[in-house]
Amino acid sequence: MNNFIIAVDGPAGSGKQRISKYIAKKYNLFHLDSGVLYRRMASTILKQKIDYNNQFNIKRLIDEIIYLSPRNHKSLRTENIGNITSKIAITPLVRKFVNNQQKIIVKEMLKLYIGCVIDGRDIGSKVFRDAKIKLFIEVPAEIRAKRRHKQLIALGEKSIYGQILKEINLRDKTDKRRKESPLIKPARAIIIDNSNNFQKTIIQIKKALIEIK
Ligand code: C5P
Repeated sequence: MNNFIIAVDGPAGSGKQRISKYIAKKYNLFHLDSGVLYRRMASTILKQKIDYNNQFNIKRLIDEIIYLSPRNHKSLRTENIGNITSKIAITPLVRKFVNNQQKIIVKEMLKLYIGCVIDGRDIGSKVFRDAKIKLFIEVPAEIRAKRRHKQLIALGEKSIYGQILKEINLRDKTDKRRKESPLIKPARAIIIDNSNNFQKTIIQIKKALIEIK
């Protein structure tokens, strides 16, 4: 089989990461979490105290970055970084840069792996439109908020369910309504309902990926 790409899109907290990791491990593929690239941009912008509404400063920052690491880090996964990331991700300059970085990373990784699984918001609809298989993950906002709330409490962090739900709804709105690459279910995408236990999700994934041995 030729090199192939599996695109996994869906809203915040829908479990794209867990699903993509599962697919990568099961089928020996490289996993790229495109959200990490956007989060790293947000973290750099914060650290350098750059006004993200100022396009000139954003452009200057982008010109300085040679390679954006896709490596995940727990400092990138805070609620604050997540919320700022979705504001920064509106900027066409940032999107163009991150899309380009994704293509560079995937091209390199396809020399080592038979395929890549990439998760994000616009992977199947924009960045890798000709992906062999496209999955779209769905989970109602209330269930996503409940899961996130439980996770934060387990980590010993302060969390108010109502606040988490509000933030999730706001991020969904920002991601779905932006002009540039909004979150949509791409054509040909197979819907995966991840609102029940993961075993039920795995059954759906295996069915969707039946052609991959
Ligand atoms: O998936 P994750 O929650 O890590 O993404 C953080 C934010 O990055 C999202 O809310 C979204 O605004 C942005 N993002 C994006 N396009 C992608 C991946 C992430 O706009 N492909």
